[in-house]
Amino acid sequence: MTPADRAAEQFRRLHGRAPVGVWSAPGRVNLIGEHTDYNDGFVLPFALPFRVAVAASPRADGRLAVTTIGDDTVPQRAEPVPVAELAPGRVTGWAAYPAGVAWALRDEGHLGGADLVIVGDVPAGAGLSSSHALQCATALALLGLAGVTPEQDGGPALTEVARWVQRSENDFVGAPTGLLDQTASLCCVESHALFLDVRSGAREQVPFDATATGFEVLVIDTRARHSLATNGSGYADRRRGCERAAALLGVPALRDVTLDGLDDALGALPDELRPLVRHVVTENDRVLRTVAALRAGEPDDIGPLLTASHASLRDDYRVSCAELDLAVDAAVGAGAAGARMTGGGFGGSAIALVPAGARGIRPAVSAAFARRALPAPRLFPAVPSAGAHRDQ
Ligand code: GLA
Repeated sequence: MTPADRAAEQFRRLHGRAPVGVWSAPGRVNLIGEHTDYNDGFVLPFALPFRVAVAASPRADGRLAVTTIGDDTVPQRAEPVPVAELAPGRVTGWAAYPAGVAWALRDEGHLGGADLVIVGDVPAGAGLSSSHALQCATALALLGLAGVTPEQDGGPALTEVARWVQRSENDFVGAPTGLLDQTASLCCVESHALFLDVRSGAREQVPFDATATGFEVLVIDTRARHSLATNGSGYADRRRGCERAAALLGVPALRDVTLDGLDDALGALPDELRPLVRHVVTENDRVLRTVAALRAGEPDDIGPLLTASHASLRDDYRVSCAELDLAVDAAVGAGAAGARMTGGGFGGSAIALVPAGARGIRPAVSAAFARRALPAPRLFPAVPSAGAHRDQ
């Protein structure tokens, strides 16, 4: 059963009637372009086949009542809260994610109570954007109940919905993240990676049917858990560092520093900010080169770019960790064309570009973790899948 079918079934069980509709949104991996989004740069994610589904019906009393069903099928109900009274800090824990979306949509004029039942299969805490999948599915569900469909009949653009979801995460949940994950979850399409210019909002669907080109993207969930949802986090520190560097260089964002101008820029900065800037500028260039290789139908050229991205995130941006480095080294050592951490870092998942028929890579990664007495990583292929939509 899909998460959407399960959400509809659980809604009927809990509320004694069918939901008005079911909407779902996927998790993502980012092929390349890490920590570039909040620097106005380039990213290249694709959607995973794992989704979070939200079964929903309107409520007449103006309250938001959310139930989530975990793997154990035990429902967890959050205290129903009047949408009109939502404010940052009013809802905490997992329920802050859907409540934050209702709060952001309310401020856009989409006020309304709802019963929501949430079921998903995106691995949580694995850096695969399970929380963004939940937020994006909630946004489409609440808009759908209000009779609004993005990109149709005067509805908002998907990129606008992504900004509302980002606002809910930044200001309601308190995680200072960029636009990568929401845009990926909302805008990706099957068999493609999404090339997004964050500054302009321009999007291009770049064909990326890894299997047809003789490669598979293997996800290695290291099971080292990550969280970006605190202002005192390494994520927030990096972000502030980038903003300080841009201010010192007199540019709106690090996007404006070119590869040719990098040495001059580094010379004008204090030591501690140089590695951050070097990462962002070279990573933007790697995204452009990856997109060029995919457009030219030469996916084997992207392997070294992925591995260089990892080295830059490990050595300059310093957001990797021992488990991610081990996953990347083991995969490349066993014959992957390239590998890198994906997402915010500090734990979570790596991806490896695996030539079809290279059977030794999975066992080599598992064995490397076993030798270090680390929990066995979860390994699965990532097939570029559909973005958010209405299911029922
Ligand atoms: C997290 C954030 C994104 C992005 C990545 C790093 O996934 O949610 O906005 O900054 O980290 O590329």
